[in-house]
Amino acid sequence: ANDGYKLWLQYLPFENKAVADYYRDYLENITLIGESPTHGVIRKELEIAIDSFLEGKTKSNISSKNINSGLIWIAGTVDLPQNIKASLAERIKEIKEEGYLIKYFQGKIFVTANSDIGLLYGTFALLKNIQTRKSLEDLDILENPKIQLRLLNHWDNLNRTVERGYAGFSIWNWHRLPGHIDQQYIDYARANASIGINGTSVTNVNANALVLTPEYLEKAAALADVFRPYGIKIYLTARFNAPMMLDSLPTADPLDPLVQAWWMKKAKEIYSYIPDFGGFLVKADSEGQPGPHNYGRTQADGANTLADAVKPFGGIVMWRAFVYNEKTPTDRIKQAYDEFKPLDGKFRDNVIVQVKNGPLDFQPREPFHPLFGAMPNTPLMMEFQITKEYLGQETHWVNLSTSWKEILQSDTYAKGHGSTVSKVLDGSLHNYQLTGMAGVSNIGTDRNWTGHHTGQADWYAFGKLAWNPESNIDGITEDWLKMTFTLDPSFVNAAKKIALNSYETLVNYMTPLGLHHIMARSHHWGPGPWVTGGGRDDWTATYYHKASKDSIGFDRTEKGSNAIGQYAQEWNTVWGNPETIPMEYLLWFHRIPWNKKLSTGNTLWDEMALRYQKGVEGARWMQKEWTKLEGKIDQERFDHISSFLNIQVKEAEWWRDACLLYFGQFSKMALPAGVENPK
Ligand code: GCU
Repeated sequence: ANDGYKLWLQYLPFENKAVADYYRDYLENITLIGESPTHGVIRKELEIAIDSFLEGKTKSNISSKNINSGLIWIAGTVDLPQNIKASLAERIKEIKEEGYLIKYFQGKIFVTANSDIGLLYGTFALLKNIQTRKSLEDLDILENPKIQLRLLNHWDNLNRTVERGYAGFSIWNWHRLPGHIDQQYIDYARANASIGINGTSVTNVNANALVLTPEYLEKAAALADVFRPYGIKIYLTARFNAPMMLDSLPTADPLDPLVQAWWMKKAKEIYSYIPDFGGFLVKADSEGQPGPHNYGRTQADGANTLADAVKPFGGIVMWRAFVYNEKTPTDRIKQAYDEFKPLDGKFRDNVIVQVKNGPLDFQPREPFHPLFGAMPNTPLMMEFQITKEYLGQETHWVNLSTSWKEILQSDTYAKGHGSTVSKVLDGSLHNYQLTGMAGVSNIGTDRNWTGHHTGQADWYAFGKLAWNPESNIDGITEDWLKMTFTLDPSFVNAAKKIALNSYETLVNYMTPLGLHHIMARSHHWGPGPWVTGGGRDDWTATYYHKASKDSIGFDRTEKGSNAIGQYAQEWNTVWGNPETIPMEYLLWFHRIPWNKKLSTGNTLWDEMALRYQKGVEGARWMQKEWTKLEGKIDQERFDHISSFLNIQVKEAEWWRDACLLYFGQFSKMALPAGVENPK
């Protein structure tokens, strides 16, 4: 049995004697030089791993001195023996702050780095190579992260509910902190460090100012102490009107000297509890949150006031671009660009603007956000959503790295062909001095952390892509499967195929052809294309699909809202024309008559119906393929995933039936051959 708590750090026992003998030689002869808390963590991780790989048959004996006998050497560059250091000098020069080198050399494996954290990352990388049973004599790996800030964002409330969380309650037990340190905090830090995550914002973006009071800062400091040896900094969400809420200031105007002084003092106080506090994450002027607009100020005014406060202590501000207002009549997806683009270059150098992957809100599929490539003088970071708010929530198996990769590879054309979103994020395109990627966490108190076992893969892949957005997702998925379940290639290959097909399948049964925001109201689970009214157009489905008896879709071309005008000319040309736009974005940008013949040869209605059907068939295929894998992994996780796949198939049918019945009232066309009649 396996409840999945150990994530990808299962350290699966060696499958036979030959494999065990091969690695045992190395694992019994490790030299680890250094004494920092991070070295303590490295030693502990090695012990856990060795104990598990060799099923407790070897007591690990990690030496901190025995210089000559070590077959695996884990030591900072300064601690390497002189002759080794001299021989590897060229490679060592390439190692940056958090990077590492793993090199097989003269019969030994050297793991080395310039920092303790680099050494920890290198150790996890070595363990990964053993977990995936790589030959150690080939090791020659030099890795440096491409992105500086690699963060999880928890939308966790102080009462332990999790906004858009589907895996239980918040793992942060504020009530027991700081007195009790739960083992889960430590395992959380291990898991994150193993994939290179170096920061976490632990509270909801819809922020409660209370977290900035001494009572909570003491608790947050206890978490920071746990995370520190793992190279993880803590960040907090700052409620913009905290000066009013906590200290009854008459205003939160960011240009008011009293307000500025308040933030300065608050920052000083926070740093007295947490000397390496990372900084603030802020949602302002959006969905009811207070912000600089309340005082006629700009987003830059707001961000800069907070940035000035944390600057003396080395802190940063991540200011979210998810700003929109129902009172602004402009197409909602245009508002962030309209607001932020004119502020390019107006932010302090310790501000980074955090932009969602697409211009709406974590839909199953959106084109990339037009701000990417449009702010050369203000660093932008990515915000992906790991939790599956609009993607069926935790019971659907959807491999999110497929969709993230699509966004990361999108070409902004900001500096001509090849100006991908990845290159915006890694800073190379605009020479950003701050770079980052955040993922809205999908974890909670569920025994397996993420509800669906495969939700762990999304957490894992997020870390890997934050480290290097160019990473190959086929490899990421395969490694994750091997480390999490089994090395049996018949399982790994089949499960990988299911995973890599899952994203397109979900898009087909939920929002094919560029449809968006047609989920049920407020909780966003299940179909709701009929949702209308309710006081706020931009939270309704009909605002987005605009189905009528003739057509469907949102005209965002020049003749419509001209959201398309926020993209490069190259995209205007391709996306602006319904004949050349990729089908995936058709109804995102265009209004199309139901009976229009598409390039596929089908009418729009037939194409839509066939795609919904294909989505359902895709879900059934996933289920069928999964069934064949019974016996290849433990029954507990096999059954868990099976039952979720049953739910997924049912909900895929529900989506298809609901959407086709609803839209059919407008098209009044018959279902094409091959599409099942709604039940
Ligand atoms: C979505 C989500 C909200 C969240 C918001 C945000 O709208 O439904 O729960 O607060 O995004 O990202 O701020």
